[in-house]
Amino acid sequence: NRTEPFDFVIFGATGDLTRRKLLPAFLRRFHAREFDQEARIICTARSELNTEQFRNLCSATLHEFAPDIAKDTETLNQFLGLLTYVYLDATEEGPHWQELSATLPDAERTRVFYFATAPALYSAICAGVSQHNLITQHTRVVLEKPIGTDLQSANEINEGVGRYFSEDAIYRIDHYLGKEGVQNILALRFANPALEQLWSSEAIAHVQITAAETVGVGDRGSYYDKSGALRDMVQNHLLQVLCMVAMDAPASLRADDLRNEKLKVLNALRPMTPDMVRKNVIRGQYTAGRVKGEDVPGYVEDLKTGRPSDTETFVAIRTKIRTARWGNTPFYLRTGKRLATKTTEIVIQFRPQVWPIFTNMPSPGRLVIRIAPHEELSLVLAARDPGAGGFRVRNATLHMSYENEFAVQYQDSYERLLLDAVRGDPALFIRRDEVEASWKWVEPILDSWRYALTPLEPYPAGSWGPATTRALLARDGALWHEDM
Ligand code: BG6
Repeated sequence: NRTEPFDFVIFGATGDLTRRKLLPAFLRRFHAREFDQEARIICTARSELNTEQFRNLCSATLHEFAPDIAKDTETLNQFLGLLTYVYLDATEEGPHWQELSATLPDAERTRVFYFATAPALYSAICAGVSQHNLITQHTRVVLEKPIGTDLQSANEINEGVGRYFSEDAIYRIDHYLGKEGVQNILALRFANPALEQLWSSEAIAHVQITAAETVGVGDRGSYYDKSGALRDMVQNHLLQVLCMVAMDAPASLRADDLRNEKLKVLNALRPMTPDMVRKNVIRGQYTAGRVKGEDVPGYVEDLKTGRPSDTETFVAIRTKIRTARWGNTPFYLRTGKRLATKTTEIVIQFRPQVWPIFTNMPSPGRLVIRIAPHEELSLVLAARDPGAGGFRVRNATLHMSYENEFAVQYQDSYERLLLDAVRGDPALFIRRDEVEASWKWVEPILDSWRYALTPLEPYPAGSWGPATTRALLARDGALWHEDM
């Protein structure tokens, strides 16, 4: 499974993403011998460092973010030897471009440009690599999120990059697609025909998709305050998960077959009118509270700007998918920072008995697909309670932990996605029309918020969001998972 030698150029190599995710992911794959010392990782950024200084920084970073592997000094040193640093300001002409060019002598090798900078720089970097003849037939470009802050800016970015790269050379990353648990939705659905029989409004009362975090904004306040939960999590990660849950079976697992089916779901989402937003969207912001037994400050204090903010750190949405399969099933999406627990999960709530013959029916069964913190599957079913007199039924749970079932160490999503980009497999990356369809659906929500049609509701850190979040489901007679 070893990858051919490649040149991987990271723009924005002193940033958080490179430190926390990209370099540790590469180190792990190097350790797993998925590539060897022929590979080159060229790191560029606007800090005036030389390669030796950069390698020293990386060494410290890797000890922090991949300590189990970094403690193997031989592997670590071999890996650091693959790194070259080039000081580069992509917006300026100058000798540093020649320096970059000199690190890429081989036009026949796979070449990947990874944009981990602010998206505002994507076009400038593309222009730079083009002017300096660095785009070969074997070049791909990976774009980090956020692709824009609305439809127009997303289009500008896509067009800017599209002037230099064809769509099939553009890899838009969404790390949720690299998660084992998210890919497993495909196996669960399409390798288990019996389950797929149930997969529609006929049997499913509602679907909940939750990505709850206990962390606050940390030191990402300057980015996050301009973004908010809707842009940061819903437009990309949550909608992608929704697509995986709701799409029809693709003709194959090839990239375009998958993407065509996902696109159909995005296009079928019920459009959000202002009235719809008012009734179906909750936005919240955390205030001081207690998370996992620790007192934590509120969002505004976390920002440390001394100014109030109307950015949402929580959002819950009720929507429908206008297809024959899903028309009668509400989909609830929610995500937030500083919530009660860290969990990413999908709850498939089955419908109740039409004509209950048992007098004490418990709540109807459900399937819970947990993606984080662990991949797990739970199926809640009614069973006769042998301890109770007469014929009484209660719920019992069938449980599968992937960790116990498959004794392998999971790859982090970046490990998988970086190597997919190197090998040229775009199946787990987002096509341009998906980005556009997502923004088209999200944008009316942002517009209504601009006109303050939805209040920003406070919620204490460590809770499950604003109290009104419950009411959103109560309308359908439904409960959030933690209340079941
Ligand atoms: C990122 C967001 O894309 O996803 C972060 O920018 C968020 O705000 C993160 O914390 C969540 O990812 P995960 O893999 O921890 O669920």
